[in-house]
Amino acid sequence: MDVLKIRKDFPMLDNKIMQGHPLVYFDNAATSLKPNQVINAINDYYKNYTSNVHRGDYDLAAFADKNYELARTTVAKFIHANDNEIVFTSGTTASLNLVAHGYALTHLHENDEILLNEAEHASNILPWYDICKQTKAVVKFIPLDDEGKVTPKAFLECINEHTKILSIAQISNVLGYEVDLKEIIRIAHEHQIIVVVDGAQSAPHIPVNVKDLDCDFFCFSAHKMCGPTGVGVLYGKYNLLEETSSTLLGGGMNAKFDRCGNILYKKPPFKFEGGTPAIEGAIGLKAAIDYLNQIGMENIKKYEQELKQYAISKLKELDNVEIYNANSTSGIIAFNIKDVFCQDAGTYFNSLGIAVRSGHHCAKILPDYLHVTGTVRASFYFYNTKEEIDIFVEACKHGGDFLDAFFK
Ligand code: ALA
Repeated sequence: MDVLKIRKDFPMLDNKIMQGHPLVYFDNAATSLKPNQVINAINDYYKNYTSNVHRGDYDLAAFADKNYELARTTVAKFIHANDNEIVFTSGTTASLNLVAHGYALTHLHENDEILLNEAEHASNILPWYDICKQTKAVVKFIPLDDEGKVTPKAFLECINEHTKILSIAQISNVLGYEVDLKEIIRIAHEHQIIVVVDGAQSAPHIPVNVKDLDCDFFCFSAHKMCGPTGVGVLYGKYNLLEETSSTLLGGGMNAKFDRCGNILYKKPPFKFEGGTPAIEGAIGLKAAIDYLNQIGMENIKKYEQELKQYAISKLKELDNVEIYNANSTSGIIAFNIKDVFCQDAGTYFNSLGIAVRSGHHCAKILPDYLHVTGTVRASFYFYNTKEEIDIFVEACKHGGDFLDAFFK
């Protein structure tokens, strides 16, 4: 992987200055930077073939249709699904909400149980609480192990005859642990449990094969994988998508309706895509996937692991840094500068041109488990370098002097 060549594709990495320092962008778990290939594909749609999709009978519209559906095929191939199992949504949050409100609401009953865990972020907890309010089902949490991981054993121990749904992140967004999803799904299916996977932090970073995993639903967002904001994906096994109700009703998702209220919806995936979709979003996502494929998902995974190990080995030499996930393999480091409030540390890093996230990262139950008020999170992507990590580690060394950032 030629990282220096790759970096030239990203305008945000072209000598961008923040607070008088070259930008070191380590907030990739929140959103990724976008390469010219993606920006150009979006511009091309707006400049050269703007039109709606699935509605027009003229050349431009046909070309937009072709590119929009080509995006669906590209996404399907990327995760080894069939085209008709790919629903475009506005992102992971919308995808999880669609499963909760479109599938779980009509399949769960009083006392049924939904299994989650304390490391999940809001989008994989709040929709389930809402479903519980409406169905009288209950949410239960799988205990995390000493490192903050969900193990197949802990999952197995939580299952009983009421367990109906497991919803779990393949890679958690703060600690960055990858769960043994294949084994967990095998156990779940032995007990007729539907598995919903939040792939927001995995699809951008590791190869994903939904057929091999055998998951029932898989959700991810374009913007964390070099694509645009406002577009994401829900994969569902086709028979489950057929059983899922549309939650967004309107143009484009119905075959016909009449004045008596008789409605015929389209088949999946179209019955979920009411209204004008994020056309440039899908086209941008296709360009992002083409770009990632060119680099190779295995190469991306390997390189990020290398960055993570490098950073951890350097940070471990410092006695003022507390790391919470030294052993997770993804490129996420959750840490604190000892005796410094995480958001003060975030502001201090900003003063040196380093973008990290600090706080609870939407995973609002996790700080209780870690016994902290919050954490600083540095998250890498394939365009980051060891030189940037050196700058970051140097900044960590002086993290206790953060007040200097304001009194220079
Ligand atoms: N879930 C995203 C994050 O972890 C927004 O930052």
